[in-house]
Amino acid sequence: MSVSTASTNVDPSLLQSVKLLGSQVGRTPLHTITKLFSKPGVQLYAKKEWEQLSGSVKARAAYNIFKHAIESGQLSRDTALLDATSGNTGIAYAKIGHVLGIPVTLCLPENASKERKEILLSLGATIVFTSRFEGTDGAQAAARELAASHPHKYFYADQYKNINNWKAHYHTTAPEIKEALPGLTHFVAALGTTGTFVGTGRRLKELDPSVQLISLQPDNPLHGLEGWKHLETALVPGIYDPSVADDNQEVGTEEAWEIMKAAWKFEGLRLSPSSAANLAGAIRVAEKLESGVVVTILPDNADKYSEIVSKLNII
Ligand SMILES: Cc1ncc(COP(=O)(O)O)c(C=O)c1O
Repeated sequence: MSVSTASTNVDPSLLQSVKLLGSQVGRTPLHTITKLFSKPGVQLYAKKEWEQLSGSVKARAAYNIFKHAIESGQLSRDTALLDATSGNTGIAYAKIGHVLGIPVTLCLPENASKERKEILLSLGATIVFTSRFEGTDGAQAAARELAASHPHKYFYADQYKNINNWKAHYHTTAPEIKEALPGLTHFVAALGTTGTFVGTGRRLKELDPSVQLISLQPDNPLHGLEGWKHLETALVPGIYDPSVADDNQEVGTEEAWEIMKAAWKFEGLRLSPSSAANLAGAIRVAEKLESGVVVTILPDNADKYSEIVSKLNII
């Protein structure tokens, strides 16, 4: 994680707890794809991001956001972390807040799945429900209003604008990939808040300017890929930098469902729709190569998607 200097007024026991928690974030394993894709001279890997604190890639960004806010004296046990999130970031915030004894308030579209709401409530988060018709953009507007009307009560994390989101990936995800795969030629990942792609891509390009960075987006605004953004029609995150990508490709929700079924059957991977869509995009990239080493990110597994899993008959 990046180096920063702690403010002198920060509770030393809180700083110690933050430091200890860092050992549960990141350092996730790679899965080698051998059945869904196989071609001489081309290797395809997928990083299993659910194998860390709170079960998703968002542990990295959430932890880095907490860490910097605490060290700079903006967040303590007397304030609450506030943000808008319908999914994994919320779970990561709630988990970290629970461990550190810091309250967490989340603005959430009311149609978030029952499983999500139960997980968040069991971790002690306070939920502010927003209109189902306004999605995550509506939840962001509600969080902004709440933060503006109670400036001393909340630290507004604002994952869409917070540089500690992409920096988490710059300092952890990218070096982990490069260390495991020194011959990496292609990095493929989806755009949500864009932290994963922008942070990892930026660092990988610095380490090797020849590496190709391919961002993925859903193929239409009404997609079913949790965590992904259709940037043409959504609020563009403040941390997004379109110059990072060498190429941008689209993935369809049904294509992701097909890969969910196949990944379970042939690779033993129980993927979320988002992870399956990442894999679909990466397979497409790998298929076009004569030689190379491709890696993609699997943000979470199927645990929180029981409705889709039972619809697709995945055990
Ligand atoms: C399941 C899932 N996939 C993909 C993403 C996208 O990652 P990022 O927000 O870093 O762009 C997220 C982010 O919340 C996610 O939860």
